[in-house]
Amino acid sequence: MIGGQWLIIGKLFFLTLVKIKKVVTFTNPNHSSPITNYKGKLTMKYKGIIFDLDGVICSTDDYHYEAWQKTADSLDIYFDKVINNRLRGISRAESLEIILERYDGKMSDEKKQEVLNYKNDIYLQLLEKMSIKDLDPSVKKTLETLKEKGLKLTIGSSSKNAKPILKKLGLGDFFHDISDGTNIQRSKPHPEVFLIAAALVNLTPKDCLVIEDAHAGVEAAHAGGFDCAAIGDAIDNPLAQYKLNEFEDILKII
Ligand code: BG6
Ligand code: MG
Repeated sequence: MIGGQWLIIGKLFFLTLVKIKKVVTFTNPNHSSPITNYKGKLTMKYKGIIFDLDGVICSTDDYHYEAWQKTADSLDIYFDKVINNRLRGISRAESLEIILERYDGKMSDEKKQEVLNYKNDIYLQLLEKMSIKDLDPSVKKTLETLKEKGLKLTIGSSSKNAKPILKKLGLGDFFHDISDGTNIQRSKPHPEVFLIAAALVNLTPKDCLVIEDAHAGVEAAHAGGFDCAAIGDAIDNPLAQYKLNEFEDILKII
């Protein structure tokens, strides 16, 4: 009888140990408190995720670079990768102003418009070859997993080409809503594009995590009161709460 009691106590002790082992802890380097998930059930910190597009969901940032390089060459203006990185996240027109820092003389507004059209035409030509195959399988899988978990997923991009790009990637109807260069007055580092994205799905900035590859985007998230996970070029930005070595690392945060 007594032996039987000890057996039950022993079993309970063993089960408790197994339970403790199943507790998964992910510690955010910039947050003092750990986020604890129990038994595979996520205690979700966020209700929504706002994704930048170029350089986060897809590699169109390389096409922007190529198009700006050709545009700068056509004007005989020096341009390189370092200058290009300053263009991440900001509007087409603001990008041209940065490129023109190395232009001798003054350019008329008509000529600027012509140059902007020239750049966008090259960019659109590069986008022609884009298809569903350009969506990285791990990005697709991660997005689907996040959606299954019930998170509201939106786009917060400065690009006026965001919708056709998403369509090409087979994500035309995937996101709960899209905030992009067509509905904002001020581009990143102003938080407008993210504030609209959150409002479109009835969430507050505190409820949302922003995913960004641009310093201007990380600053925009910070200015709007959003937590931010930085990837790629912006990974070491101190204003971001999380660093993403891989896109799928988002799953360790939420
Ligand atoms: C952002 C890019 O997503 O969109 C910037 O990071 C780009 O480099 C901006 O300038 C505007 O894009 P588009 O497609 O409207 O020229
Ligand atoms: Mg980007």
